[in-house]
Amino acid sequence: MCGIVGYVGNKQAAPVLINGLSKLEYRGYDSAGVAIIEEDILKVSKCKGRLANLEAKLEKAPIKGVVGIGHTRWATHGEPSDLNSHPHSNTKETISVVHNGIIENYIHLREWLTSKGYKFESETDTEVIPHLVDYYYDGNLEAAVMKAVSKMEGSYAIGVVTTYEPGKLVAVRKDSPLVVGVGKGEYFIASDIPAILNYTRDVYFLNDKEFVVMTSEGVKLMSDEGDEIKKDIFHVTWDADAAEKGGYEHFMLKEIHEQPKAIRDTMTSRIALGKDITLDKITITKEQIANIDKIYIVACGTAYHAGVVGKYVIEKLTRIPVEIDIASEFRYRNPIIDKRTLMIVISQSGETADTLAALREAKKSSARVIAITNVVGSSVSREADDVLYTWAGPEIAVASTKAYVTQLIAMYIIALFFAQNKKTVSDEAIEEIKEAMLSLPEKVEEVLTNKEVLQRFASKTYMHKDMFFLGRGLDYAVAMEGSLKLKEISYIHSEAYAAGELKHGPIALIEKGTIVIALATQEELFEKMVSNIKEVKTRGANVLAFAFEGNDTIEKTVDSALYLPRTNEILAPVLSVVPLQLLSYYMSIQKGCDVDKPRNLAKSVTVE
Ligand code: G6P
Repeated sequence: MCGIVGYVGNKQAAPVLINGLSKLEYRGYDSAGVAIIEEDILKVSKCKGRLANLEAKLEKAPIKGVVGIGHTRWATHGEPSDLNSHPHSNTKETISVVHNGIIENYIHLREWLTSKGYKFESETDTEVIPHLVDYYYDGNLEAAVMKAVSKMEGSYAIGVVTTYEPGKLVAVRKDSPLVVGVGKGEYFIASDIPAILNYTRDVYFLNDKEFVVMTSEGVKLMSDEGDEIKKDIFHVTWDADAAEKGGYEHFMLKEIHEQPKAIRDTMTSRIALGKDITLDKITITKEQIANIDKIYIVACGTAYHAGVVGKYVIEKLTRIPVEIDIASEFRYRNPIIDKRTLMIVISQSGETADTLAALREAKKSSARVIAITNVVGSSVSREADDVLYTWAGPEIAVASTKAYVTQLIAMYIIALFFAQNKKTVSDEAIEEIKEAMLSLPEKVEEVLTNKEVLQRFASKTYMHKDMFFLGRGLDYAVAMEGSLKLKEISYIHSEAYAAGELKHGPIALIEKGTIVIALATQEELFEKMVSNIKEVKTRGANVLAFAFEGNDTIEKTVDSALYLPRTNEILAPVLSVVPLQLLSYYMSIQKGCDVDKPRNLAKSVTVE
């Protein structure tokens, strides 16, 4: 997804913008560019491909100046190309714009502007913005941007600079993220905090349709009516180092190893033995919980898979029916929602367009919404009634790992919190689960020491084109995540199946050598799972199975087995997903893929 950085201050803007954009690489991009005001002249440098290409270009033809905007683009309208890259400028090259989002009425605006004599160079929706600002410019940049924005429909975070007012930068957002950094005599805009952390920890979060006007004198926040707005500064406490690789070869491997800490952090101050669960940003009352007759869990991608686990766990512990839905489906299927419905949205970034739209859909029908997100101040966190933050820290690798396990922890916390309030589970049973949860970090550490089986398996099987992941109950939910991880980073086609469903179709695909990953952690379903494994074995499959320590009878049936430390079986997903993440990682390495930035994928999908 596109990344925006902007700078006004006393430093050279180019290195600040490049540094900021490099911290936004995790969002996924296909081209990059900057526009800087150099002695009252607008200079733009942009090109397709990695940021390194832009750096090389800037090295050959440096741009000097202390006010500028930068962008990493993830193509939506028009293929990735030098021409379609941002910034986009007006024909006179006096106004330049970076944009994240989609201008839905751009065709209409383009026709209208063309009729007024404006000429377009790119295929992008964005290019209408500099022309609109040009059309409305009458000596004041913020007034022109406000008028331009009033004509635009869709989502946007934009940054604008102009040679007419060379010391100024104007920015605005609607449905796309944008933060404002406040330094000493220097000011920033960015799509996300890591982009500016090297320079400042003080930020303003902009709400929809709020503008910022910055000069080296200071920043002014404004409503779309032009009124000045006062806001509190948010001081960011997390460390810039947290966003660096810290000695690991890839961010993904680092993040896999950060999981024990992420799990511990997410439980901290919420789960303690002998004490009720208390959730500071959740204000739902006992009476309101008693009134809930249905829960929707809505999310996308990996977060959706955490929701599948959530469905099993919440239903088991609270006896409230739970529907799990993919956000892009939920928002258009006219779901049955009323005051007794609770919606839980899960989103690592808190900015996923479909998830946000589903949240708004539920709120329109007066459902209460709890958001589970990893990003403080993100859109879902601000729009939901209650928030449960996962404390995974910034996740850089596109494929989600530590965010997923913390989302699982959030699911357990919410299920226990409701069970405690509804008294659907005995206090002893709640204590037992809490105790098991508190020992998960050490157990994940233990799983992380057991890599050889996975490395060996990956080195023998990475050339395969297809794989299957099988499980029953919670194991099926984890199989879905394991299969997604493999597809995302190793480009191996894989499918996850509820093992009981095997004989209704997919077994036709099993032949000599087909790779099957089988999860068998659920005691009640263990024997049934073993029978399903036998069904694929007799047809020639090569099976790697995961089971709890002590269930070594499985070895008689499979080709390789990996054992997980025992825990309460509803918590098994937290342990069994770890070897699946590692397996995908080793497959990806063997194949020489770009682990942290898989092709065609974006970390945060802020368009529909
Ligand atoms: C993208 C990412 C996935 C992520 C999904 C939902 O597809 O590549 O890793 O699971 O979006 O993102 P969210 O930020 O809402 O959890």
